[in-house]
Amino acid sequence: MKLILVAGARPNFMKIAPLIRAIGIHNGKHKGLGTTIRSLLVHTGQHYNLEMSKAFFRNLSLPDPDINLEVGSGSHAAQTAQILLRFETVCEQEAPDWVVVVGDVNSTMASTLVAAKMGIRVAHVEAGLRSFDRSMPEEINRLVTDALADLLFTPSEDADANLLCEGVPASKIKRVGNIMIDTLLLHINEARRRKPFEQFGLMPKEYAFVTLHRPSNVDDGASLACIMDCLERMSGLIPIVFAVHPRTRKNLLQHDLWKDRGKRRLILCNPLGYHDSIGIIDQARFVLTDSGGIQEETTFLRVPCLTLRPNTERPITITKGTNKLTSLGTLHEDIEVILLCGEVPQGGVPELWDGLTGERIIGSLIEHHCL
Ligand code: UD1
Repeated sequence: MKLILVAGARPNFMKIAPLIRAIGIHNGKHKGLGTTIRSLLVHTGQHYNLEMSKAFFRNLSLPDPDINLEVGSGSHAAQTAQILLRFETVCEQEAPDWVVVVGDVNSTMASTLVAAKMGIRVAHVEAGLRSFDRSMPEEINRLVTDALADLLFTPSEDADANLLCEGVPASKIKRVGNIMIDTLLLHINEARRRKPFEQFGLMPKEYAFVTLHRPSNVDDGASLACIMDCLERMSGLIPIVFAVHPRTRKNLLQHDLWKDRGKRRLILCNPLGYHDSIGIIDQARFVLTDSGGIQEETTFLRVPCLTLRPNTERPITITKGTNKLTSLGTLHEDIEVILLCGEVPQGGVPELWDGLTGERIIGSLIEHHCL
């Protein structure tokens, strides 16, 4: 069985790593007997900076991509079109049995479209998540990918329900759990050993960690200025480490908002590597974010999370986990509640977020291949 695994942007890399590992385990167990898996890793090049791509390959011990499409940045149409053109050639040359895509970025959607039109089966890992907000580019990517995929691997019950509501046959839906947690479990000890908060002169549970990169929060200068004012006020309550995504950095510089703020209690730094990121989240008093993956990581690590968005495609992190939606209007109050209350929010880890999702996915792909 030949698979092409597609990764393009930072949040894809920790979802691809467990699949590569599970393929290795499978091939090791079935030497010469049963189905052997050949896999090819295709990097679209959507993310290309050292800290957005190569650092993650290194941190996660991922092999170098077999093929890099090097599409780079561009408008949605330009980036998608480049992936369509370049990935089609790869599929023609390699003729895989399956294309496996993860998450909800432009690379996910574009490679799915190519494969589906060529009659190549597509498996989508992290299927069924919905924010019901089509102003989010990722929601369009999720809808298109799930409409075209042949096998939909979901992380949680709500995702199954969304797909069933959209008319996806139950036979295509497999609940396998959360693939990001496989990677988190494998690396959390190393992340804790590194004590990444120390490089900022901070103590465990005595700082907040912030990441913000959604276009709806950071692309508009006025909204970004409000956010920075809010963070400056927030740094009066607790020191903040804000790891700044390239999109956010570009906008901060363009609007002259990148400056020394909050008497050094608001620390702006470059994006962190994988271990430093989960290590700093693990010991944060709370996290403020608009990332999808961090909502899940904080739920798993039982760290309070405030999500600066009006909605989430990961509602289970609210109903079962430690997540709460917030807005600039309610942020200060939400933070005071967290700081005053010594307890971590009650809740638990959702079912099947257990480190074995990669192996379940590979097992299921083999089952379908042999049908
Ligand atoms: C993309 C995903 C988003 C995901 C995020 C994680 C889409 C539609 N969006 O958003 O879902 O949460 O990745 O990081 O697929 N840039 C660099 N270096 C890089 C990559 C980007 O400088 O390596 C800058 C460029 O100026 C680029 C901008 O960041 O124009 C945005 O990059 P892009 O990949 O278009 O979207 P993200 O905001 O990163």
